[in-house]
Amino acid sequence: METVHVGLEGREYDIHIGPGLLAKSGALIGPMLARKQVCVVTDENVAALHLETLREGLAADGIAMEALVLPAGESTKSWAYLEQTVEWLLAQRVERKDVVVALGGGVIGDLTGFAAAVLRRGVGFLQIPTSLLAQVDSSVGGKTGINSPLGKNLVGAFHQPRLVLADIDVLGTLTPRDFLAGYGEVVKYGMLGDANFFEWLEAQGPALATGDEEARIAAVKRSCEMKAEIVVRDETEQGDRALLNLGHTFCHALEAATGYGDRLLHGEGVAVGCALAFELSMRLGLCAQEAPSRVREHLRAMGMKVDLKDIEGELPDADGLLDLMGQDKKVVDGQLRFILAHGIGEAFVTADVPRDMVRQLLVEELSRR
Ligand code: GLY
Repeated sequence: METVHVGLEGREYDIHIGPGLLAKSGALIGPMLARKQVCVVTDENVAALHLETLREGLAADGIAMEALVLPAGESTKSWAYLEQTVEWLLAQRVERKDVVVALGGGVIGDLTGFAAAVLRRGVGFLQIPTSLLAQVDSSVGGKTGINSPLGKNLVGAFHQPRLVLADIDVLGTLTPRDFLAGYGEVVKYGMLGDANFFEWLEAQGPALATGDEEARIAAVKRSCEMKAEIVVRDETEQGDRALLNLGHTFCHALEAATGYGDRLLHGEGVAVGCALAFELSMRLGLCAQEAPSRVREHLRAMGMKVDLKDIEGELPDADGLLDLMGQDKKVVDGQLRFILAHGIGEAFVTADVPRDMVRQLLVEELSRR
């Protein structure tokens, strides 16, 4: 088992990464419990695959478990399911010293974390992420919340987990498409801040995708290390944490345009958004042509969506996409902010991007569809 430490003073925690962690959950979680019982929030898909393994892992150390099983899907990250979760946790008599467990992907992690943040003005929670995307991104760093009818993640709180258990075995139950969507967030870390990691992924990506355990552990570990380091520097995103949003300004517009559903998964949108961010950086004279070419080549080699033409169905025109980008949380005083790059592994945040350049890029990319 590998461990990454998130050194936030007063709220520090470990991320354990390795195989068989669900089965060892009792031994790993036990030391942080005031009493030997936990409430678990999960979804129907994850419950069918992993809930019994977790129950047995906890029971091996005498820990009792109650579970709330919610519908799977983005629409669960809503006011209605937040209310249901909080009321269920209260009915279970969860106390301040208890910890709530989120077993699932990003939706369950965000919803459960937010429920824990507001329950009795804050109870502890821990994350057992079951998607690659959740293992390398959403379960780490304390962003919790739900969607509003007006947009994604508009209601929430920073509430750090007490522990993250990233069981590599559960990645074996993901569809190839879901795995690759999560890989979009993995490769993002190389692109934003570690050229060596990007190079390693160019070589190891195919092994990762076909299930190489050592490679998967190494990739999740490096991703978590990078995220932990940025979160410790800037927990509440006053500056550097925005680097984690490389590709996301484009991605959020594309997700809004495609209905936040099966047409474009979040991690797929991140990959397309990263390719666009590198292309824009090159056009602004910030990096050499080699950088966007390498990004595209690697994503293509992994069988991922890379360009706007890879997204099926209608898309808005360039002005429509620019309007959707205007809803991005990184907009300040109406000014779009982008994460651009001087090269692979050298990203930075800027508001200094002429709207016409972005528009022109989108016009050209859309014309290739
Ligand atoms: N997913 C980006 C962040 O946690 O800041």
